[in-house]
Amino acid sequence: MRFTKILLACGLAGLGAAACGNDSELAPDGGAARATWYQDVAPIVANHCMSCHQDGGIAPFPLTDYEAVVENSTRMLHEIDRGAMPPFDAREEPDCSPRFSWVDDPRLTIQDKNTLRAWIEAGHPLGTVAEIPAPPSTTLSGITKTLVPSEPWVTSGDRDQFICFVLDPGNTQLEWLTGLQVRPDNDLVVHHAVITEVPPGAEHDALVAQRGIGKPFECGTATPGNFVVNVWTPGNQPMQTSSDIAVPILAGAKLVMQIHYHPANLVNAPDATAVDLRFSSVWPKRMYFVGAFGNAFQAPELLPGTSDAGTPRFLIPAGVADHRERMRITIPDLGATTDVRLFSANPHMHLIGTHISAKIERTAARGTDPKDECLANGAWNFDWQRTYQYAAPLEQLPSIAAGDVIDIECRWDNTIENPFVQRMMHAANLSAPIDVTLGEQTTNEMCLQIFGLSIPAPAEPAQRPATIELPTAFGEITVASLLRR
Ligand code: HEC
Repeated sequence: MRFTKILLACGLAGLGAAACGNDSELAPDGGAARATWYQDVAPIVANHCMSCHQDGGIAPFPLTDYEAVVENSTRMLHEIDRGAMPPFDAREEPDCSPRFSWVDDPRLTIQDKNTLRAWIEAGHPLGTVAEIPAPPSTTLSGITKTLVPSEPWVTSGDRDQFICFVLDPGNTQLEWLTGLQVRPDNDLVVHHAVITEVPPGAEHDALVAQRGIGKPFECGTATPGNFVVNVWTPGNQPMQTSSDIAVPILAGAKLVMQIHYHPANLVNAPDATAVDLRFSSVWPKRMYFVGAFGNAFQAPELLPGTSDAGTPRFLIPAGVADHRERMRITIPDLGATTDVRLFSANPHMHLIGTHISAKIERTAARGTDPKDECLANGAWNFDWQRTYQYAAPLEQLPSIAAGDVIDIECRWDNTIENPFVQRMMHAANLSAPIDVTLGEQTTNEMCLQIFGLSIPAPAEPAQRPATIELPTAFGEITVASLLRR
């Protein structure tokens, strides 16, 4: 009871921080109530908030000093409690809760939240002056090479554009990529980027002869090269892996960067998006690549939506607040590719999505894998897209094999109450919500899970070769489901 009184006294009297700090020695030992700015709260805010909330950061106001945090503390707690800050939309829900946690999960623990709450209730005690830790870096570390187009693309009009650039990493031998960061030059127009690898061979030679290096060309939604290295979406962290798992970039291979531009009538908006690469000298245990599942546009993969009459249709009617589409994708025969394990999940929808989940139904339990499990689940916020990496040992990552079914469900709110519907209407000059169908435009929707996949790397040879076999089966699934419309 004495403890409560102390908190009340601070709150009611509105005492200065130092006064409450002095009182805190009366609080029970070890309780969050003793929390001070320097000892407890600053490290939490530095670790979870300051990477964006700093001068020149992407957040609208800094939270780097005591005064700013005191001023915003109630708002901060509110945003944390409703799960909006720090932005991270993975959710553990009764219907779908993944077996593993996520790497770099920035959410506060219950203890952190209690500490912050108690500190606010105690009147923001300062504590003993100490250095505030540096916020975690959000840029790729150990960059080996940066590739930049030689010529920018200048967007125009209001139709979305798909522009490719052939980039040359200049490898003279096989290199293992463990980090990649796409850095948009003009983030008002860059909607997403897909990086593929084109190994040496006929396709490579024709591409380089026809397009040159670093020059923009229109490529539609079919990116050359079907080994997908990375998919970048706004808000994404850099792709970073340990040296145990890496993407093989073959000697002489080129990378193709396909950018989906959303010009939105911005006149003369040049963009030369850069790609940072980090190569590792270590021979990895597994190879990493990307495969997308979803965007099914018809039965049998697409199940009837909540607003369909008769045949399944990917259609989100105007005015419906909780429309759902579900698709079930059976993993085909993967040929020689065995021991395939998911490594990460990068959900993708467009503006008006609210929720996306993916489950797997295996033909049987396998090794450490249960028969059925939730692979990824979360709220959807177009502004905070990211790749979620499983925090699991490589040999325990969820496996997939022929005959397994990936079950994906997406939800949308196509009413005027959804601020993203308002944004879409504004971008497309509409006066009311419209029926939304599957497609690439910003006024279309998607329901896609872009999984990071991994297979065993070949044994390390005595001498590093120029080339190894790249699996392409998953690339084909991706391209097929996007283009069959
Ligand atoms: C990844 C970047 C990022 C991180 C990390 C982050 N924020 Fe934010 N925050 C933003 C941005 C950007 C906005 C502006 C609103 C928006 O875009 O959602 C914002 C807005 C806010 C707002 C104002 C919300 C409103 O609508 O009034 C509060 C309060 C806030 N953040 C608190 C926090 C706290 C507390 C943390 C740490 C626990 C945190 N943020 C971590 C980027 C971030």
